[in-house]
Amino acid sequence: MNFSIKSFKNKNDIKNQKTSCIVVGVYEDGKLSSEVRSFSTIKLVNVAIKSGDITGKPGSCLLIHISDSPIQRVLIVGLGSSTKITNRNFLKVIEATAKVFSTLGSDNGIFTIPTNFIKNLSLNKCIETAIKIFRESNYSSEELKSKKEKSNKGIKKISFVVPQDQTLIAKKAISRGNAISNGIDLAKNLGNLPPNICTPSYLAQAARMLSKKFDLKVEVLNRKQIETLKMGSFLSVTNGTPEPPKFIILKHLNGKPKDSPIVLVGKGITFDTGGISLKSGNAMDEMKYDMCGASSVIGTMSAVAEMKLKLNVIGVVPSCENMPSGTATRPGDIVTSMSGQTIEILNTDAEGRLILCDALTFVEKYNPECVIDIATLTGACITALGHHNTGLFTRHDKLHDNLANELINAGKETNDTAWRLPIEGKYQDQLKSNFADIPNIGGGGAGSITAACFLERFTKNYTWVHLDIAGTAWKSGGAKGATGRPVPMLTNFLISREKKYSV
Ligand code: BES
Ligand code: MN
Ligand code: ZN
Repeated sequence: MNFSIKSFKNKNDIKNQKTSCIVVGVYEDGKLSSEVRSFSTIKLVNVAIKSGDITGKPGSCLLIHISDSPIQRVLIVGLGSSTKITNRNFLKVIEATAKVFSTLGSDNGIFTIPTNFIKNLSLNKCIETAIKIFRESNYSSEELKSKKEKSNKGIKKISFVVPQDQTLIAKKAISRGNAISNGIDLAKNLGNLPPNICTPSYLAQAARMLSKKFDLKVEVLNRKQIETLKMGSFLSVTNGTPEPPKFIILKHLNGKPKDSPIVLVGKGITFDTGGISLKSGNAMDEMKYDMCGASSVIGTMSAVAEMKLKLNVIGVVPSCENMPSGTATRPGDIVTSMSGQTIEILNTDAEGRLILCDALTFVEKYNPECVIDIATLTGACITALGHHNTGLFTRHDKLHDNLANELINAGKETNDTAWRLPIEGKYQDQLKSNFADIPNIGGGGAGSITAACFLERFTKNYTWVHLDIAGTAWKSGGAKGATGRPVPMLTNFLISREKKYSV
């Protein structure tokens, strides 16, 4: 898709535009948004509104065709209350527009919704959001179908109308929106690939390709190097499979050399059978999505590099398969992690934490500003939060509270929300082993929290947040597919860390 800006000095400038479809907004009180009140086809639009065929109900819409006019169609979309367009209503407006646009037999459209009038959302965030939603409605994952089902029609060139003094900001928002959506698409594509194609080696290759495309440094550690690092916990998960594990590192070093990096760590289990603690067959295919933490890190690194953010960001991905076999790790086995802590593996299906703990120890060497790990870690997180919110876990002190709030706000702005759950001492007490320093599962409920508590033991030397994306990384059923979450939240967090939205 192609996005551009049309700026206007005064509102009369819009009315003579040539386009196959222009989108105009109508409020609940029947008034048109101010941008289009001087519009040449205003009469027809007003007739449509008076007819009662379209109300200002947020996201409702009506398409009218106009003959002998440079404007071939007008799409009237309901905006809700005229006092302020809320964030939620804005999403409904864009989603409704995207739906209609994708069905039209022409290829260019103009979007005139008053993007500078949305509650709590700046013009640049509005444009980034709009691009994200338009691109989402245009996404398909049919590479492996021999006959494509999705038609290629619909509006692919979209212009946003903004006041002239906002042109530069809007143009920058377009390039950022494109970069973010490219990152989201990359995360989705990797997630949707089948596990016989998307192996740890495939993820490593994707990282190498990304480092060629953008200015990123890449390192891929093989089994031997992982052994040398004494990652006994990570390696224990690979025991049941001949598929080689990979430890992938991507570096975007565009900040000041002395600035500590923000480190992202993504769980990269390319298929999770549960191992000897085998899962039941029900929907087991969806465990190909157990690398969505990894794909969100790779997608975010892509966006950060394409945006050339003036930051140091390092993405780290421990990746392997979790398979049962005669050589697989058994429940009861005790392994030594890179940190030196011994772990009693009571359930081989709690493997995410086993690969993450060694990665979390490894990243200490970067002296990180903060570390965020992203993982499809626990089914219990879906029980707790469903599919709306990512679970967010961190220690309870001022520094960690601040980082948690920053991420939560970055999520709210991008409609990629997270909800914080506690990890205080009482939950830590649920992790006790008679034979090793720590068991890999905790009894007594709160499975997502005890998983986070396990990770916490490996993060004592830096500021850390854990994101459990088990409920948010993909959709099941008829709409089965990766969501690309939490790339929007992470990129927005990193953009705000860059501080100034310099034009
Ligand atoms: N990858 C799963 C978590 C998961 C399950 C995510 C279903 C999304 C949907 C993880 O490795 C796992 O199996 N966790 C276990 C932990 C348990 C053994 C303590 C779980 O959630 O059942
Ligand atoms: Mn598992
Ligand atoms: Zn898993």
